[in-house]
Amino acid sequence: MIHIVGLCASPRRDGATEYVLREALKAAEAVSGEVTTQLAVMAGKKIAPCVDCRACIKNHSWCVIPDDMRELIELFVKADGILVASPVYCMGPAPQLSAFCSRLRAIRDCFPDLLKGKFLGAIAVGGTRNGGQETVVAGIHNLFGIRGMNIVTNEAREYMGGRVWSDDRGAEGAAGDAVGMAGALSLGRRLAETTLIYSYGRQVWLEKQGRM
Ligand SMILES: Cc1cc2nc3c(=O)[nH]c(=O)nc-3n(C[C@H](O)[C@H](O)[C@H](O)COP(=O)(O)O)c2cc1C
Repeated sequence: MIHIVGLCASPRRDGATEYVLREALKAAEAVSGEVTTQLAVMAGKKIAPCVDCRACIKNHSWCVIPDDMRELIELFVKADGILVASPVYCMGPAPQLSAFCSRLRAIRDCFPDLLKGKFLGAIAVGGTRNGGQETVVAGIHNLFGIRGMNIVTNEAREYMGGRVWSDDRGAEGAAGDAVGMAGALSLGRRLAETTLIYSYGRQVWLEKQGRM
């Protein structure tokens, strides 16, 4: 069994980003009965940006800022694959997602293997057809790639990540972007397949090393 967590970085519930992510998670689950998925939303969560207090480095511990960060990190730790979806804000990822990723610094200094062996897919949803979706997909790849995650791009004809145009009309607008939705769904499938194949390969690898 593998578990895929979808993280929706929109500060709004039930908007375009959450719709696209839900559909991509359904596509991932349809790949095999061995795939389970779970949606996590940043809307309504308090997640402050890193203030470089360096408590994590000094204490060799997780971030000391008391907010909702920990519950999301715990979901990440349990996941085999993570599908991150963000609205495009000013041609960049939602600032809420950047704040979240700034708080992952303890991974670099204290827990370098925390996300090792986990796979990441990125989806960007913008109000304009070419409003920065590609930039946001690349931004999400950077934000999580630097923490040791393996990036799943998409099928060869789909290029990088999922890129959807909502026309600023929420879920309905996103659903109307047939080309964008097809790319988001194929990313969901590809993420599930890659994660599943890795999990089988990992078992063989551990057996060969006598660790299972
Ligand atoms: C502050 C702000 C900045 C935005 N900047 C962009 C942008 O640069 N490019 C774009 O295509 N859409 C931009 N949008 C539109 C949103 O990306 C779009 O409406 C998206 O579907 C919102 O997702 P949601 O429905 O999940 O909240 C912006 C929206 C806001 C609120």
